[in-house]
Amino acid sequence: MTDTITLPAAPDFLWGASTAAHQIEGGNVNSDWWAKEHQPGTLCAESSGDAVDSYHRYGEDVRLLADAGLNAYRFSVEWARIEPAEGEFSRAQLDHYRRMIDTCLAAGVTPIVTLLHFTLPRWFAERGGWLAPDAVDTYTRYVETVATILDDVHQVVTINEPNITSMMLGASRRTNLDAAGLAAPDQEASEVQAKAHRRAVEIMRSLGHVRAGWSIANQVFQAAPGADEARDAYAWPREDFFLEVARDDDFVGVQSYLRTIIGTDGEPVPFGDDVEKTLTGWEYYPQALGEALEYSHRITGGVPMLVTENGMATADDARRIDYTRDALAGMARAMDAGCRVEGYLHWSLLDNYEWMSGFRPTFGLIAVDRSTFVRTPKPSLAWLGRVARTGSLPA
Ligand code: NOJ
Repeated sequence: MTDTITLPAAPDFLWGASTAAHQIEGGNVNSDWWAKEHQPGTLCAESSGDAVDSYHRYGEDVRLLADAGLNAYRFSVEWARIEPAEGEFSRAQLDHYRRMIDTCLAAGVTPIVTLLHFTLPRWFAERGGWLAPDAVDTYTRYVETVATILDDVHQVVTINEPNITSMMLGASRRTNLDAAGLAAPDQEASEVQAKAHRRAVEIMRSLGHVRAGWSIANQVFQAAPGADEARDAYAWPREDFFLEVARDDDFVGVQSYLRTIIGTDGEPVPFGDDVEKTLTGWEYYPQALGEALEYSHRITGGVPMLVTENGMATADDARRIDYTRDALAGMARAMDAGCRVEGYLHWSLLDNYEWMSGFRPTFGLIAVDRSTFVRTPKPSLAWLGRVARTGSLPA
């Protein structure tokens, strides 16, 4: 790449970063994930513990984001805090999240609120979670409550990566793991989440000022030579259902990290030793973002897109900049080809708790010392802020 690429600059485009409550707040003790982390024989590498204490330090986090020149922050509100016992809503926790929204607004940062980012209240999970008979009504009541603190919020993500949740539930309900260790999605979980999403979109629309969508883990499935049909058979149940539903949404959140190549046997092809891998063990493949946007544009019939996550886990921040630059170049090409993209939110603002893998895979634009919680912005934060301010992507 030799020429400078031009992208829309802030404030005409949402340029920012994403986080999720459980991964950064700390002490999320009423959630199903906390329980899972502390089960005897847990497969989680470590407990989320205090995470990076963003529950108390969100003001500093928002300030660092804004000072760098970014203008949007996607964060999630935590159902397990807001409704710690069934039907018992916490005024103090709702006020806490309202203060976060106000902090963003005061800093000139657009808050993008995710209503549910994987974690469930423990009482709901114990009743079956998404597979409980009244799951949709239970989620809807929670969403109605959160709606009361959303003044001046204009973008809401209803559910994060429902397709991953369906695959995880598929894995736990059956033992039909395929070669990649990913089960086929659980149909019931898919349908329940789709219904819950539709209800949440209706509630958000009724507020009159909120545009709503959900965020899909948008994997790029490529075919090995001669494997086009096998690829389609593999990809279809994993992608189609969710993107079809997106047709009625105000936007669709695109989350892109990697690709999967499907072989003629209908299974993912393992990548060779010569392939560069990130700290999550994924292939380094920044082209995935442009391809995911083009795919999502095609399958949704042109629903506007918001990149709600994209990034890489690495200890080498210069490589993070390379990855992001090439991903953004792909996004620019997709936009030139007609894709309607409204913003780019990097995963993640902070180094954080990467679920089963613990704190080792560092995705952040900001490093956090886990014993002092001192934040140290990495060069990639200033780099992304410069792209946001100037709309110019350096070669
Ligand atoms: C998607 C998930 O939404 C987020 O929670 C996770 O940390 C990133 N991908 C990286 O794996």
